[in-house]
Amino acid sequence: MSGSFGKVGVLYGGKSAEREVSLMSGAGVHEALCSRGVDAHLFDTGMRTLAELADEKFDRVFIALHGRYGEDGTLQGALELLGIPYTGSGPMASSLAMNKIMTKRIWLEAGLPTPGYAALVGEADLDAAIEKLGVPLIMKPPHEGSTLGIVKAQEVTDVPGAYREAAKFDDVILAEQFITGRELTIAILGAGETARALPLIEIVAPQGNYDYEHKYFSDDTQYLCPAPVSQEVAQHVADISVRAYQALGCEGWGRADVILDEQGRAWLLELNTSPGMTGHSLVPMAAKAVGMSYPDLCMHILADARCKVGHLTTQKS
Ligand SMILES: Nc1ncnc2c1ncn2[C@@H]1O[C@H](COP(=O)(O)OP(=O)(O)O)[C@@H](O)[C@H]1O
Ligand SMILES: [Mg+2]
Repeated sequence: MSGSFGKVGVLYGGKSAEREVSLMSGAGVHEALCSRGVDAHLFDTGMRTLAELADEKFDRVFIALHGRYGEDGTLQGALELLGIPYTGSGPMASSLAMNKIMTKRIWLEAGLPTPGYAALVGEADLDAAIEKLGVPLIMKPPHEGSTLGIVKAQEVTDVPGAYREAAKFDDVILAEQFITGRELTIAILGAGETARALPLIEIVAPQGNYDYEHKYFSDDTQYLCPAPVSQEVAQHVADISVRAYQALGCEGWGRADVILDEQGRAWLLELNTSPGMTGHSLVPMAAKAVGMSYPDLCMHILADARCKVGHLTTQKS
């Protein structure tokens, strides 16, 4: 099977705030593909141009990039134009999922549970947001990943400061109801009707402090897979997450972040269309729980690589 993929590019690094993580993801994917006999080559999109990418004449590429210019649909559009089959979602689903406000609009229209929100364009919008959402609330730059610029406002008086911090990263800021509960994440493979969830993961961070440092560099955070929840809750989270993935038109693979509140209701936070693939990463952890090794997972994702425009899968919400 490996020979049939031809010359494979592993796109990594890139120019986003998540470059550091992507360098680790790409190195892991490259090593895994090589171990399976794939003719895989690392290609750093942060250091090399699109013209150089075209010159490489890759038969297909594995996208191990996170954030802007890698996960957000721009690169996917370029690969469509170049006619190079690529892993993961197409341009539309990638750009929708990269924007947390657009994502919530689609989910709400599909009747999926996501915390109440307001889109803020300036400090003049803060009073209305507090009125609508109450406190605590959370401010997020809608485009960033990896918890950069995400600030919780515990009290009304914290709201302007939280807004200003988030506003360093984006022009429009997402204010969202804060949900107190358990932090879950769930990986999804496939597309359309065949999309399926892997076992649910619970993330238990010290003092619930799930920030950037803890996510990638701390040994204190615990990951429980399968998450210790009832079969019923696990099934419900899998159902809404697969529907959330389908509603955005995602393909290949992805990972939804979910919070389970104290009443046992699950709330969708976001969908990552090109999640981390480092040694600590969550999709490989979920795959392992069903007997799929890291190289198996890479091969599975690579086997699904294709150009998507013109043959989008039927979307069901
Ligand atoms: N509405 C919310 N209520 C409670 N916690 C939240 C909420 N939104 C985000 N968080 C916390 O912040 C983390 C990062 O938020 P998320 O929307 O997943 O953005 P990203 O992972 O792109 O930085 C979540 O994993 C969760 O711990
Ligand atoms: Mg997240």
